[in-house]
Amino acid sequence: MSGLVMIIFGASGDLTKRKLMPALYTLYREERLPDGFSMLGGGRTDYTDESYRTYIMSELKKFVTSKEQTDEQLKGFCSRLHYLTMNPATAEEYSLLNARLQELTGEREPDNLLFYLATPPSLYGVIPLHLKAVRLNRSRTRIVVEKPFGYDLQSARKLNAVYASVFSEHQIYRIDHFLGKETAQNILAFRFANGIFEPLWNRNYIDYVEITAVENLGIEGRGGYYEGAGALRDMVQNHLIQLVALTAMEPPVTFNADKFRNEVVKVYESLTPLTETDFEEHIVRGQYTASNTKAGYREERQVSSDSRTETYIAMKIGINNWRWSGVPFYIRTGKQMPTKVTEIVVHFRKTPYQMFRCEGGHCPRANTLILRLQPNEGIVLKFGMKLPGSGFELKQVTMDFSYDKLGELPTGDAYARLIEDCMHGDPTLFTRSDAVEASWRFFDPVLRYWEKHPHTPLYGYPAGTWGPLESEKMMYEHDAEWTNPCKNLTNTDEYCEL
Ligand code: BG6
Repeated sequence: MSGLVMIIFGASGDLTKRKLMPALYTLYREERLPDGFSMLGGGRTDYTDESYRTYIMSELKKFVTSKEQTDEQLKGFCSRLHYLTMNPATAEEYSLLNARLQELTGEREPDNLLFYLATPPSLYGVIPLHLKAVRLNRSRTRIVVEKPFGYDLQSARKLNAVYASVFSEHQIYRIDHFLGKETAQNILAFRFANGIFEPLWNRNYIDYVEITAVENLGIEGRGGYYEGAGALRDMVQNHLIQLVALTAMEPPVTFNADKFRNEVVKVYESLTPLTETDFEEHIVRGQYTASNTKAGYREERQVSSDSRTETYIAMKIGINNWRWSGVPFYIRTGKQMPTKVTEIVVHFRKTPYQMFRCEGGHCPRANTLILRLQPNEGIVLKFGMKLPGSGFELKQVTMDFSYDKLGELPTGDAYARLIEDCMHGDPTLFTRSDAVEASWRFFDPVLRYWEKHPHTPLYGYPAGTWGPLESEKMMYEHDAEWTNPCKNLTNTDEYCEL
């Protein structure tokens, strides 16, 4: 029997060189690839096996650290790569693909295949049907689809129906790379392997939760894609809502794919449906404008000069269940922010009454717990202490744990972990069809509202700032505020000078 062949559609694209190849290379170096593994790239750019290997070799040198490169390893890895010039949109070209796979595997009916769709989303619905037409959907075959899975609820349903007509659900891997991050998985360990937080992890003790995933980069030349997506489709409907699920979910009875994913779906199904008031008052959209050194969104390549696509979004969402009823979850994401950070801040309730006065400008504050996913991965608990000396001046101090104390974080990032899981047939960290639809069901009304009200405010914010002020105002009614994080995890100041 032949080894696994991974077929990447979009093999000459950005995702392949930035993420997939470095991930595969890591798996190769660490001897985590299955025996006899090979990769066949498919794409429209004309390459031979040889010229594709040369191209990937030069890209790997840019995207993996020099510590991880030796000529011998790079060559060894690249010798496993093959390439077929093809247009994945064209049905006729799949017989070429079939023939090439027969040649590579030496089998008339190749089956041990892993297809990876690193193409524009417009091809997600077409490729499975073309694969089926040449019977490349046999029982051991798996298919990985990038996000966004669907453009809205209706298109996600359609896409699910297409996939279900070609593959069984256990063969379909909808990837959301946030779930491949060690620190995202660590939220589960933190919550479910430690008894002390569980009694506090509910509406009785938690006042509100903030989830932030912001970046200091713009759209990195992806204007064509981003114009049709915006922050809601690019980050919120998948990555951010996954983080909400990890924070809010009930413990699965056992940690297996179905039990874990059942709990995720339950969170999505408990999201309080958004109303007109929410669309108007609890969702804030922004778009970065030019600043001293940075171009504005509308000046980016392939972006319309009067684009109303949001590059920032902040919203308040609720979860209608026994654990979370009445606890707002504030989520936000944005491009061209002052820093790159992904973190969850849990704000505990204040003490029932306050016997200490604000002295020396230090007011007693409620406790917060920060789960920092990146960078400076770790966990911080903040609490008030008395400053030594006369009077009763309080200061907020931190107790912090830095994730790197447990050892080096694995190289190759989330993609290596997820691709490896898929090779082993473990779908736990991939999104199931019902979860995709449940998430779209919640967000679809937002898209409909924006469509109907094209003049819903879109606030400009200068590139390199923390986004529109309106997103602060949105939180006043709950007496809440955003924690604008510092780069340094141990910095105790709530708001940092950047
Ligand atoms: C991707 C989005 O899914 O996630 C990008 O398409 C975004 O726009 C990226 O930059 C962020 O991921 P990470 O792992 O760098 O935080």
